[in-house]
Amino acid sequence: MALSALQELESRAVVGTYARNPVEFVRGEGTVLWDSDGHEYLDFLAGISVVQIGHCHPALVEAVTDQAARLMHVGNLYYTEPSMRLAGRLSDLGLGGKAFFCNSGTEAIECAIKLARRHRPQGDFVVMARGFHGRTMGALSATPQEAKQAPFAPLVPGFTVVPHDDAEALAAAVDGNTAAVLIEPVQGEGGIHPLADATLAAARQACDEHGAMLIFDEIQCGMGRTGDWWGWQRAGIRPDAMTVAKGLGGGLPIGACLTTPTYADVLQPGDHGSTFAGGPVIAAGANAVLDVIEQDGFLEAVAAKGARLAAALGDLGLDVRGRGLMLAFAAGDAPALARRLLTEHRLVVNATGPDTVRLLPPLTVSDAEIDDAAARVGAAL
Ligand SMILES: Cc1ncc(COP(=O)(O)O)c(C=O)c1O
Repeated sequence: MALSALQELESRAVVGTYARNPVEFVRGEGTVLWDSDGHEYLDFLAGISVVQIGHCHPALVEAVTDQAARLMHVGNLYYTEPSMRLAGRLSDLGLGGKAFFCNSGTEAIECAIKLARRHRPQGDFVVMARGFHGRTMGALSATPQEAKQAPFAPLVPGFTVVPHDDAEALAAAVDGNTAAVLIEPVQGEGGIHPLADATLAAARQACDEHGAMLIFDEIQCGMGRTGDWWGWQRAGIRPDAMTVAKGLGGGLPIGACLTTPTYADVLQPGDHGSTFAGGPVIAAGANAVLDVIEQDGFLEAVAAKGARLAAALGDLGLDVRGRGLMLAFAAGDAPALARRLLTEHRLVVNATGPDTVRLLPPLTVSDAEIDDAAARVGAAL
C-alpha cells in the first residue's frame, strides 16, 4: 500500500493523537531501518528508548518466536516459566523485592501510585516540574504539564509539584502525609535532564524522615540506557520502588513496578491486576533483552559509546547534555531540524519540545554508526 493510501486511512480511521512523519518503515535490523521505498535510515531514537538491543535482534526474535509457537497466553491464574524467571531476574538486578507486571510505562506508574496509597492511605504525592510519567489519569496527574493536563481536568487530587531539581524545595514538600515522592532520575520527555545526586539524596532523606516511599521512574532512563542498569545507581542511594517499561521488552509491550523487600507485600491479593501482564511471549522476549544487556562489558560499552556520541556532537559546536546513550542537544527550531534529519539525511531522532533534539539509539549501536550519525547532524546543520 502506498504511503498516501496509509495517510488516507489514518485520516479516516485513526484517532488523531499523533503527529506522524511521512515515512512508512517496513524493516529493521540493528540500528538500521528501511522505508517502503527501500531507503536506509539510522535509527537514533529506537522507538523512544524501546528498541534497546536493536531492531530484530536474533536472540529476541528466536525467544519470542519459540514461545509464541508453544504457548501465547493463559493469564495470571496460572504459572508460566518466562514470567516467574523474569521476576526473579528483575528482583536480583533491581531492588531485591517483587515485581508487578503490566503492559506499558503508564501502567507501571499506576501500580506505583496504588502501592504508595496502600502504604499510606489517603497520602499525597510529590512530583517535579518537567517530569513525565504517562497519560492515564493517575500518571497524568503526576505529569505537571499544563497542555497535557488541562483538557482532562479534574485530575486525581493530591499531587504537589516542586521546582525542577531543587533539593531544598523537594525536602520541604515532604511531610507525614506524603505517600511518595515520584521522580525520574534522568528526566526524559522533559528534555533529557539528569537530576543532581544531591536532589536524589535529599529526596531519600526526606522520605526516610517522614515514612514516605521514594519511587523512581526508570521507564526511559533505566535498562542500561545511561551506562548503568538504572539511572539512580550513581547517586549512592536507592529507591523503595521503581517503574520500568520501554527497553525492558526491546520492542514488545511490557512494564513493571519493582519494590524493595520492605514494600514487596504491601499490595495484597485482589488489590491490582492486568489480563495480559507478564504473558509468556512478552516475558520470554524481556528475558532475551536481559541476556544481552547482562553480557560482560555491555554497560561499559554503552558508557563509552555515549561519550563518543556526546564528543562528536560537541565537536559540531552543539550544547550536549545527558548521560550514556540518553543524550540531547539544544537547537533553535528542534522540530524542523528533526524533520530535516529524517527526510533529507535519513537519521531518526526527535524533538522533545521546541528547542531540544533527543538521541536514544539502540544500546547495540556501533562506533561507526555513531560517527555516521554525527556526520549527518553536521550536514543538516
Ligand atoms: C519517564 C517516563 N515515564 C512514563 C512514560 C509512559 O510510558 P508509556 O508511554 O509506555 O505509557 C514514559 C514515556 O515516554 C516516560 O518516558
